[in-house]
Amino acid sequence: MNSFSIVRRPRRNRKAESIRSMVRETELSVSKFIFPIFLQAGNNIQTEIQSMPGIYRYTLDKALKEIESCLSLGLKNFILFPAIEESFKDKNATYSYNSNNLYLKAIKEIKAKFPEVSITTDVAMDPYSSDGHDGLVINGEIVNDKTLEILGKMSLAQAEAGADILGPSDMMDGRVGYIRNELDTNGFTNVSIMSYTAKYASSFYGPFRDALDSAPKSGDKKTYQMDPANSLEAILEARLDFEEGADYLMIKPALPYLDIIKSLKENFPLPIVAYQVSGEYSMIKAAASKGWLDENKAMVEVLTGIRRAGADIIISYYAKEFAKRK
Ligand code: PBG
Repeated sequence: MNSFSIVRRPRRNRKAESIRSMVRETELSVSKFIFPIFLQAGNNIQTEIQSMPGIYRYTLDKALKEIESCLSLGLKNFILFPAIEESFKDKNATYSYNSNNLYLKAIKEIKAKFPEVSITTDVAMDPYSSDGHDGLVINGEIVNDKTLEILGKMSLAQAEAGADILGPSDMMDGRVGYIRNELDTNGFTNVSIMSYTAKYASSFYGPFRDALDSAPKSGDKKTYQMDPANSLEAILEARLDFEEGADYLMIKPALPYLDIIKSLKENFPLPIVAYQVSGEYSMIKAAASKGWLDENKAMVEVLTGIRRAGADIIISYYAKEFAKRK
């Protein structure tokens, strides 16, 4: 047994936690997370989303309390989504830029009360559209260029309300450039754009659509969201967003698309964002509730994997639970 020697023994770097943590290549930290907050009209109500245990739709007063509790954990970045009452929805999503709407009021109040937080928005028609699509539907078709005009109005309203970062999630062609131009010509040169660059037509958005009651009334989103089978197309989308002025490139969902995260990270000199979507959260929650997975360990492992693949920033429903753990 003494007659041979194994020169390279990788196990030496794994022999104790002190050493493992010293050689660890990927770190998770609260500052790299964005936490989604769902809003609803009314007062003093928080409604748990059935398919997302632990995640709620908040009225604005409750949302402010939730943000305060996140701040005490060091979590400072939020992305907002509104649940809009059916009676306010129409074909052109006009309520999305009505200055009295719940969403714009929330942006104003949150920024007034907590100037230290960053607010990312959602720019897409679906929460406000009677058709439940991200774009304008004419004779069954999602029309691209007319949708841009609506997204432009929504973007300006959000910028006026005080949003720090706009998040176009609609996947219309040319929207980043269109929104950048609207912002710049109206004096909002400091408002950033986090583009949903590679947003796939995914089954993992199901619980989110329950949360907002925003599922398409007919058809699906495959004529604008990407085919899960494609990766070159993600490079094309990223090139366009880069040229059109995006400040961040996002990949969504995260876990089934780690290769896309890695390829955008290697090819573009911008912060790369991964959105761990509703279904990815619910999947872990469901397995954990049956005792099939250790939730805390599974959460950290998945989030670490997303970072290791190349995500600089993660949007996650687990952000607060992760922050609490530290
Ligand atoms: C809609 C939008 C969706 C999500 C974010 N913005 C759903 C969709 O495209 O149908 C999904 C987020 C999640 O599942 O957590 N513009």
